[in-house]
Amino acid sequence: MKANELRKMYVEFFEKRGHKEINSASLLPDNDPSVLFTTAGMHPLVPYLLGEKHPQGKRLVDIQKCVRTCDIDEVGDDTHLTFFEMLGNWSLGDYFKEESITMSYLFLTEYLNIPVERLAVTVFEGNSLVPRDTESAEIWIRNGLKKEQIYFYGRDENWWGPAGKTGPCGPDTEIFYDMGKEKCGENCGPACSCGKYVEIWNNVFMEYNKNEDGTYSELLQKNVDTGMGLERVLTIFNGYKNVYETELFQPIIEKIESLTGVNYTEENKNTFRIISDHMRASTFILGDPKGVTPSNSEQGYILRRLIRRTIRLVKKLGVNSNIICSIAEVIIENYGEIYSELVKNKSFVLEQLEKEYLLFSKTLDSGLKMAERYFSKLEEGNSLSGDLAFKLYDTFGFPIEFTVELASERKINVDIPVFEEKFREHQEKSRKGAAEKFKGGLADNSERTTKLHTATHLLNAALRKVLGNTVYQRGSNINSERLRFDFSFDRKLTKDELEQVEKIVNEAIEKGIDVMCTEETLEEAKAEEAIGVFESKYGEIVKVYAIPGYSKEICGGPHASNTEELKSFKILKEESSSSGVRRIKATIG
Ligand code: SER
Repeated sequence: MKANELRKMYVEFFEKRGHKEINSASLLPDNDPSVLFTTAGMHPLVPYLLGEKHPQGKRLVDIQKCVRTCDIDEVGDDTHLTFFEMLGNWSLGDYFKEESITMSYLFLTEYLNIPVERLAVTVFEGNSLVPRDTESAEIWIRNGLKKEQIYFYGRDENWWGPAGKTGPCGPDTEIFYDMGKEKCGENCGPACSCGKYVEIWNNVFMEYNKNEDGTYSELLQKNVDTGMGLERVLTIFNGYKNVYETELFQPIIEKIESLTGVNYTEENKNTFRIISDHMRASTFILGDPKGVTPSNSEQGYILRRLIRRTIRLVKKLGVNSNIICSIAEVIIENYGEIYSELVKNKSFVLEQLEKEYLLFSKTLDSGLKMAERYFSKLEEGNSLSGDLAFKLYDTFGFPIEFTVELASERKINVDIPVFEEKFREHQEKSRKGAAEKFKGGLADNSERTTKLHTATHLLNAALRKVLGNTVYQRGSNINSERLRFDFSFDRKLTKDELEQVEKIVNEAIEKGIDVMCTEETLEEAKAEEAIGVFESKYGEIVKVYAIPGYSKEICGGPHASNTEELKSFKILKEESSSSGVRRIKATIG
């Protein structure tokens, strides 16, 4: 079976049972500061799990692109990935355990024809908050599982969430496929990592919310949140041994073989697999419309880590030129039909990879030499000092995880606590800068600042017109003198570009256009391609300010009522704000 058939079969199965299909959301959660990436299909649904009404109803199904960095050290084995597609179905206060388990069982055994004896499931053994889940166990037995196929575990294995510090969570029942190997010992079971059992599906009975203070409260409704790994199910259905044998990875592996002239073998399989996985994740992160670029903080840092590790592994295969762009091209080709954003943002993806390659390959050789020198003075079991690890980070751009990996290849440790201390001091400085950058908004609502706010919208629109839609607001600050606008873009603007931007804004001012304000749901606003920092929850009413012909933004206001009030617009300065972010200061009238 091909991936597309599985995607289709899954969605149709649940559609037939009253579910409505929703789209995959961005990999960068809209309004969830608790996580860096969308790690499960439930992220975009949090408001609805908490009780808000979803416009599509109480039964939903989707295929969500996910990034999970918690599994990064396992990548290279047969099943763990940093990027994967999650097939998910939800009941928002509708069906519960009986229907959920029965549907999963039916899909696995009758649609995917998995023999029932190859399944094993786990259920929650209970604690002081939630009783032992004998109900789920009984439902499994009624469906045809034997008692021996059901394992009871505690919180570590059978409690899911919240994804961040707070949010919806609950006990779950996880479904595993038995790969047919011998048990590795007496206690071998689904929780064992020997590879006998591979988790394929997780049905969470989301009844609780974890609060800020660590307590749990019952949700307004009992939800079901399930997630199944597409790559894993495809592997099992086709009788493959690992996810890299699927058609989702084969073309990538073949491309790496042809670009490096090295064959994929048992000895180098980890290198090939990590390159394939990391390039897939990097391509999807860069291809996301949010326009994340490699940097030293948050999502940008994870992206940088993935790309830099890849560059080094390519070098390990004996290649010193940039092949990562060609690998990304294969990925875009493979997935472009389903994830059209990859095609749309192809040039951005390739440009950013090329840029990061150039930046890192400049220091990689000298950094590796320097690291070698440090390591040569140490013996196996010794530790590289935190100061030197920080030097490798600061001077040569080696992410700490990268240094740890190099060191561990020589059985050397790294003094992480001291590194972290140094790193924190360094980050504190940039955080202060970032806080300043985001402070923004309106310092006061005087007439002048209100007009400068409208000018900011026009500037944002003009920048997108001249530089393309990868430009996103990264910060805004207004005082009575000027506006200051930070946006994603990775090079200095030319004189000509600045003139064009200024001209567009002045043209809008001269036309004397009325600024319109409407109230809409966030979804309506998004559908109309209103841009903005999406701070509201889905379904909530947002204000949309439109300057017809120029700009449409989700924003709290206030604004000038007509563009002619701005009189004229002038850019005072264009400069770098931080990596991948430019800053413009401008004034009016
Ligand atoms: N949220 C659950 C998980 O990630 C089910 O989707 O496993």
